[in-house]
Amino acid sequence: MDSIVFQNMSMSAYHKIPSDFEFHNPRHLFRPLLLLSALLLACGSATPLQAVEPPREHLSLDANWKFRLGDDWPEALRLDKAGASTGPAAEKFADTTWRTVQLPHDWAIELPFDQSADGSHGFKALGLNFPKNSIAWYRRVFDLPKEDQSKRIWLTFDGVFRDATVWVNGWLVRRHEGGYYPFREDITDIVKLGGHNVISVRVDATKVEGWFYEGAGIYRHVWLDKTSPVAIAPDGIFVSPRFEKNLPNGNPEILVEANLLNATTNDAKATVTCEIISPEGRSVRKFSGTETVDREAHAVAKLSSKLPSPVLWSPESPQLYKLITTVSVASKIVDEKETAFGVRTVGFDATNGFLLNGKHYEIYGTCNHQDHAGVGAAIPDALQEFRVKQLKAFGCNAIRTSHNPPTPELLDACDRLGMLIMDESRLLGSDMENLRKWDDLIRRDRNHASVAIWSVANEEFSVQDSPQAANAARTMQNYVKRLDPTRPVTYAAPEGDTFAGINSVIEVRGWNYHIGSGMDSYHAKHPNQPNVGTEQASTVTTRGEYENDTARGYVSAYGNKTSWSNLAEEWWGYFADRPWLSGGFVWTGFDYRGEPTPYGWPCINSHFGILDTCGFPKDDMYYYQAWWTTNVVLHVLPHWNWPGKEGKEIRVDVLSNCKQVELFLNGASLGKQTMEPNSRLTWKVKYAPGTLSAKGFDKSGNMIAETKVETTGDASRIVLTPDRKTINADGQDVSVFTVSAVDAQGWMVPVAQNKIHFAIEGAGNIIGVGNGDPSSHEPDVYVPNAPSHFIAVKNWRWALAAFPKNQSVAPEYAPDFDDSKWSRLGGSGSIEARNTTAIYRAHINLTEEDLNGDSALISFGGCDDEGWYFVNNQFVGESHDWQAQPAFDIKKYLHVGDNVIAVGVYNNEGQGGLNPDVSVQFAGHAAVSAWSRSLFNGLAQIIVQSTRDAGEIKLSATADGLASAISTVQTQPGAPRPSVP
Ligand code: GAL
Repeated sequence: MDSIVFQNMSMSAYHKIPSDFEFHNPRHLFRPLLLLSALLLACGSATPLQAVEPPREHLSLDANWKFRLGDDWPEALRLDKAGASTGPAAEKFADTTWRTVQLPHDWAIELPFDQSADGSHGFKALGLNFPKNSIAWYRRVFDLPKEDQSKRIWLTFDGVFRDATVWVNGWLVRRHEGGYYPFREDITDIVKLGGHNVISVRVDATKVEGWFYEGAGIYRHVWLDKTSPVAIAPDGIFVSPRFEKNLPNGNPEILVEANLLNATTNDAKATVTCEIISPEGRSVRKFSGTETVDREAHAVAKLSSKLPSPVLWSPESPQLYKLITTVSVASKIVDEKETAFGVRTVGFDATNGFLLNGKHYEIYGTCNHQDHAGVGAAIPDALQEFRVKQLKAFGCNAIRTSHNPPTPELLDACDRLGMLIMDESRLLGSDMENLRKWDDLIRRDRNHASVAIWSVANEEFSVQDSPQAANAARTMQNYVKRLDPTRPVTYAAPEGDTFAGINSVIEVRGWNYHIGSGMDSYHAKHPNQPNVGTEQASTVTTRGEYENDTARGYVSAYGNKTSWSNLAEEWWGYFADRPWLSGGFVWTGFDYRGEPTPYGWPCINSHFGILDTCGFPKDDMYYYQAWWTTNVVLHVLPHWNWPGKEGKEIRVDVLSNCKQVELFLNGASLGKQTMEPNSRLTWKVKYAPGTLSAKGFDKSGNMIAETKVETTGDASRIVLTPDRKTINADGQDVSVFTVSAVDAQGWMVPVAQNKIHFAIEGAGNIIGVGNGDPSSHEPDVYVPNAPSHFIAVKNWRWALAAFPKNQSVAPEYAPDFDDSKWSRLGGSGSIEARNTTAIYRAHINLTEEDLNGDSALISFGGCDDEGWYFVNNQFVGESHDWQAQPAFDIKKYLHVGDNVIAVGVYNNEGQGGLNPDVSVQFAGHAAVSAWSRSLFNGLAQIIVQSTRDAGEIKLSATADGLASAISTVQTQPGAPRPSVP
């Protein structure tokens, strides 16, 4: 039966919703909400509703940010007076010369490698020892029309690394610590309607949180949301299908909680209508209810309805429903929100392990950091999708977002493509701040079909066995149960048979490493606690390398271990036999920057990945594919290019799920071997160039697969292969090109290391390059870099003088005017009387070199109240706002030698005058980025992003001694994401 229950809570400040105000006293978190009324309404809406246009706008703020690395304004943050902050934090600051960037943006990727930098973070010149590189500023101007008068305006940052200070129009609105949690402000009170607004963000990436590459900057999306005064709260919808006994039999109850806000000073009678759209796009259920939301208060509406004939979601069949929640007041639609959800059950059983839709489901998981070749932490949405597909290709069905909350678009991709998620907090802690972040995370992510389990923390070595850690974990776990009773909770414990602290209270025992007798004995002693392999393997391999090389920092792709890790067949062989362990998560799916293990410099990234940083498979990928999919897999390693090793023994491995495999060298059989489940086969083969081939047989002896590895000739031609030939012309979509080199016969050359140069034309830009080489110090990005220098304009003189208050020239502006009798402008050039005018003059002497560049931007610290600016007797601009910092490009008015700057100033009232803090920035020619990257063992990757113009992108690649390649991708007009211009 459909039902609706509204729960009202009053609140003092409307826009401190809901977690903010609920957290003032965390001990009160679990008190039952006051139930004011409950009513039951039939499904279907009786009267047609009229929409207030548009009821909600969710706008991207990714484009057109101004960016400046470094902090030349240590005084910018002012805490004495509202709106008093200075420098880039001030509304009127001139940021004209700053670089324009698009979000997501990671400036760490742009920095050089430095051996003295933090290796765990990838040796990027960032952090405590690199103060100039570790703080940066972003600014963004946006307009709001007068028509937004009655709207609430919200600003949301999905993630900034790291500590962010945010101002809007010079008002300090937020200081957010940490790099992984989203944060949001209601900026309605301080925005200007019918004019410009400015967001200023100071990002401080000096401190780290993890022991892996973490990036720097606004590396996730930023949003501007406009809602009606009565609206759904941010992250205010929770839709949760429930089956009896958590088994997918019969029709589930779809529970909907809608958190409504009323910012008006009148109580609002709100009608909430829920419409469920099936995966095929049919409206299958509609139910609604009405209740009053008190003035300046919020209310949680609880509705429910049975869903007939549900289609279940799973990684193999990721069928998504859509909930459309509509809110109306006085027959006008005031809000409407779409929420994707999946109908499925998840659970853990101590004997049967993980259960999906009521059945044992083996977790074939990988842990992953948010880091990709070329772009670092700033991963475009389409690249998230690319990464999920790469993982799915070898049977991976689950990602652990180690060790931090994920980017929402990764979860969207996992919902759509079919991938389970272990959603992990950054830290263990039950303090108010950590619980507030935990609350934000759960509310944001709990609708995702992919999210199957929460993890309270990873490897909290210092505290994990203590009663205090048990308390904190219990509090976090209970917190989940309150906000999301459907999902289990775990902790990634780096321990064996230890039942203390967190392990003793956590719902699902997580296992980081420690395969062996300790696991079995723990299970025997705690037969009612479910288990999961939260982190396993940590096998180290370098793609295409078959010997350890300490100098270059490579490890052989046959597989290597550290003191705590296992080979693929060791850990998986153990887990595959024990369904109660639920399967597990390999450390890691992709290589990532930082944690170079086992060797340090020159190695700058990890080797743990099944795939390299680009997503190119290492040989171990075929091991997992063989045992994690039902595809017939037959893979032979190593490559067969070993000049100089003729007659010497080479280890040849076969990764396959065939029952038997026969190996051949140049047609001669080297014997047939039987494959044990979850293992690999090995031969010793005396090297001779030619063809190394294998045949795979099923249990009846039928040949079911064949493969071969050829000795290739030298590379002769470049090949470019885009992952997608058509992408959207939305300025966000990407095509990921594989770059390789082939010999004269077309064989990919597995040892090619040629340096390839790229050029792009048309409707796209290159945003990053990589090759998976863990020791490459080549740049990932080529940033257009205009060299610039500043010249201070000093020695001002001034005098009270009459002048025309317009663009006309006064005699005192003339270069040869004798101002030697005028006063020097020291601390005070203050015009005391109102309605008075004065003229200020200064000289700068310039060289040819100064004037070589593209622009010369003169910036004035301020002019009180109005100013008319002249260079060499030519008018360059005017200003009429005493708080502004006027700036003009004066390049065309300047010449080599002496130049005279003159400003006529008019003081309206109070004191006035010219602020003598004046400088000219001479910017050179922006160097055209020349992109290049070497192949690493035959492969490189180049990531190309569309512009908003539909058309063709033409990528060309050239290299010394190789035939060049050209490849095209079409960009199609689509519906670009609604965004703030
Ligand atoms: C684990 C840790 C990971 C990573 C890994 C390397 O103990 O949780 O973050 O450091 O070791 O093997």
